[in-house]
Amino acid sequence: MALEIAPSGQACGARVTGVDLKQPLDPQTIAEIRAAWLDHHVLAFPDQFLSDDDLERFTIAMGGFGHDPFFAPIPGRSNIAAIRREADEQSPLFAENWHSDWSFQLFPPAGTCLNAVEIPPIGGDTLFANQHLAWDALSADQQARYADLIAIHSARLAYAPDGSYGAKDKGRSMDIRPSDEALATQTHPLVPAHPETGRRGFYSTLGYIIGIEGMAQDSAIALLLELQQWQGDARFIYTHKWEPGMLLLWDNRSVLHCATGGYEGHRRELHRTTISAFTG
Ligand code: SIN
Repeated sequence: MALEIAPSGQACGARVTGVDLKQPLDPQTIAEIRAAWLDHHVLAFPDQFLSDDDLERFTIAMGGFGHDPFFAPIPGRSNIAAIRREADEQSPLFAENWHSDWSFQLFPPAGTCLNAVEIPPIGGDTLFANQHLAWDALSADQQARYADLIAIHSARLAYAPDGSYGAKDKGRSMDIRPSDEALATQTHPLVPAHPETGRRGFYSTLGYIIGIEGMAQDSAIALLLELQQWQGDARFIYTHKWEPGMLLLWDNRSVLHCATGGYEGHRRELHRTTISAFTG
């Protein structure tokens, strides 16, 4: 079977067919998928209908599991979390703000896999914003403003006991486990070179980024707010439409992502793994 890669025609993303992810993959196919992942940043594999075993095997083939804090894994698995919303759930949507998964870690995950378990008939798109394009579209003067900044990341606004998924978050069907560990901070360059392609792009955004090293907090937040508007500009976006049986793979080092609603009255469940940082 030859891999077929059809670009989305949007700012990133491609649909990949000609591969059966229910089978173990040979090294050449893994290399081709990895190359497409680096080129397109988001890959959608339709009609796969993967089991949790298949999802784990694919994640291992792509680089192995990342470490997922603040979530209880699904029963019987150590590395799969459920992104779930019941049909009648009233809690605020999970992951509705732009982010790059676990960017507050020392070695954040290179990628994330989301496997469709139950897809609503309408809504529930996942949006991606290509951060290489967001960087490239700036003038040299604008780039100079951001080029050498060091961002301070933390999970505190989301996962600390007083964060948005903390004690005040009621009625959520997802098994989120807030903790004081979320108070820790970690720095990363605001515009790193991608460790595999060398291409620069903004890494993460306001939310997991809570400040800028050496900058007064009010100035840092003002800068990050302005930058967040830019990072999520329509011209950088790929709107991913889910289909039953689809697996999605993205590169956290190239894109931001966020969830969307619009499926009230319908259940939605996806199983998620993260792919550990590429260590060469
Ligand atoms: C996530 O950010 O992990 C979830 C995205 C989605 O639910 O579409």
